[in-house]
Amino acid sequence: MPSEVVVLENEKIDITIWRNFLELVKNHKRDFILLAIIMVFVGALDSVFPLFTKYAIDNFIVEKNLIGLNKFIKLFFIVIAFQGINVYLFLAMGGKVETNVSYDIRKKGFEKLQILPLSYYDEKAVGWLMARMTSDINGISETLSWGIVDFAWGLAMMLAVVIAMFRLNAKLALIALTVVPPLAIASAYFQNKILKAQREVRNVNSKITAAYNEDISGAMTTKTLVREEINLEEFKEITEEMKQKSIRATIVSSLYFPIILVLGSIGTALVLNSGGKDVIQGTISYGTMAAFIAYTAQFFEPVRQLAVVFAEIQGAQASAERVFSLINEVPDIIDSEDVVNEYGDFFTPKKENWPEIKGEIEFRNVDFAYKNGEKVLENFNLKVKPGETIALVGETGSGKSTIVNLLCRFYEPTSGEILIDGIDYKTMPQIWIHDNLGYVLQAPHLFSGTIKDNIKYGHLDATDLEIIKASKLVNSHNFIMKMEKGYDTNVGEGGNLLSTGQKQLISFARAIVKNPKIFVLDEATSSIDTETEMIIQKTIENVLEGKTSFVIAHRLSTIKNADRILVIKDGKIIEEGNHRELIKEKGYYYNLYTNQFIEEKNKEVLG
Ligand SMILES: Nc1ncnc2c1ncn2[C@@H]1O[C@H](COP(=O)(O)OP(=O)(O)OP(=O)(O)O)[C@@H](O)[C@H]1O
Ligand SMILES: [Mg+2]
Repeated sequence: MPSEVVVLENEKIDITIWRNFLELVKNHKRDFILLAIIMVFVGALDSVFPLFTKYAIDNFIVEKNLIGLNKFIKLFFIVIAFQGINVYLFLAMGGKVETNVSYDIRKKGFEKLQILPLSYYDEKAVGWLMARMTSDINGISETLSWGIVDFAWGLAMMLAVVIAMFRLNAKLALIALTVVPPLAIASAYFQNKILKAQREVRNVNSKITAAYNEDISGAMTTKTLVREEINLEEFKEITEEMKQKSIRATIVSSLYFPIILVLGSIGTALVLNSGGKDVIQGTISYGTMAAFIAYTAQFFEPVRQLAVVFAEIQGAQASAERVFSLINEVPDIIDSEDVVNEYGDFFTPKKENWPEIKGEIEFRNVDFAYKNGEKVLENFNLKVKPGETIALVGETGSGKSTIVNLLCRFYEPTSGEILIDGIDYKTMPQIWIHDNLGYVLQAPHLFSGTIKDNIKYGHLDATDLEIIKASKLVNSHNFIMKMEKGYDTNVGEGGNLLSTGQKQLISFARAIVKNPKIFVLDEATSSIDTETEMIIQKTIENVLEGKTSFVIAHRLSTIKNADRILVIKDGKIIEEGNHRELIKEKGYYYNLYTNQFIEEKNKEVLG
């Protein structure tokens, strides 16, 4: 279970978070104010209705008289129509605000996710990020828009009710309001309890999300390790916890509501008691009495509503903390302001100012360690001429991928420099190098969509002809054409409907179509059968011709023809030279190669 999903939430309402949030809301200031105004109208109008009741009782019922009834009815309908319009407006406006706010936050979050370097994704669980982008953002925008609605309505209504009560009869008003202090105390007490209980529920809930996420993405591993029963047991424990906590939360909040109801009824009873006597003595009218009863009920309605809003706001604050921790995340790798001004950023690159890459690469005294990790590279030096093909070989974990990831600026050196055509790449935008890069991975990622979509993913202008040419180069045209829909075949989520080798070939074609200056092949052909590999071997050489390229391969036959082979051990180059030179040297590479050679021959013989 990834531990980072259990997020501790703040007890108090955090001002900075909300300031942050209000900044985001500023774009829709007008809508928010309008919404609040509409709600004040709704609340105030609600408090007018008991006055109609009062008038009707005192003038028509008690007096047994119908004069003026027509006018009364007309006025009544006008008020109702006006309220109807208000309700329509607030529903429309609330919906609009909610949609706009969530759109804005989503956009900001998505932008940030595009910009953040790989090191961010090393640390954050996918489930954590998904929850931020979905339920947390929903929570915030819902609370903000509808919370405002309830809040403005509740306050306006309570205020209007109090004013109306005092204007009708100050004594009865005071009597009705005697229940307010105990109400305030009960509310404060229960709010606290409800909040704590709900917070616990939410924490368990993120554990459940994480468990689902891990189980779904690790389905195959679960099956092969026969973990089903254990996983189920573990999951049962969490859901059991969820059940307990939810029950407790429900009990606490279901205690609160009857208390409010009882207090409300006590208020009504007090009014009835005192007001009844007054009516009998003739000091107040029947209508006033009826209006008071309606008002006490009306007064308590928003109290409950506001209690809910407060709880929601606290929940939304927890969501906001998490969402803004993402939005405010400062990337480890950042383009300086000067760089952005001169060369543009991720979303608005000024390509016209970019120097064209020739492909000379130099690692100068580079040290590197992953976050919280040991040094992987120490004082690493390497100079690569434009157009040179460099092969990296070495045991697992020796640092080959790290070297190319630094070159691609997915990570930056902890110290030392990496120069491209003699320019320190930190003085250029990240996208400069990315734009000139063709990267094919051992575990290539395809996107949902067709094969064609995937091949042109990095070069949307690619013509069908270019796509087919690239596919033919990597020998994938035939298998694609054998598929029912050819290039329009859907590859499934992450390319799951294809084999790993097929995915590698397609991502290879994708890199070729982009026609980059620098190629990185990290175990790019590891899942392709030897025969196909031999066929595309020549192609790879042709494709890489004239491009600076880094090829990482365990299967040494793949890299035999590289201009230079570097043997990496513990982040250091221990042997260097072309195939023939290294074989002659009879060192590490020689042993590796002869062993593999014998193995492969054996395989061939044994079939
Ligand atoms: N994202 C990461 N975060 C922390 N440490 C990492 C990360 N990636 C790799 N490492 C560590 O850095 C070291 C070098 O890893 P690297 O991936 O460069 O090896 P490699 O030579 O490419 O191995 P392989 O042949 O298995 O692909 C390893 O000790 C590994 O544990
Ligand atoms: Mg690797």
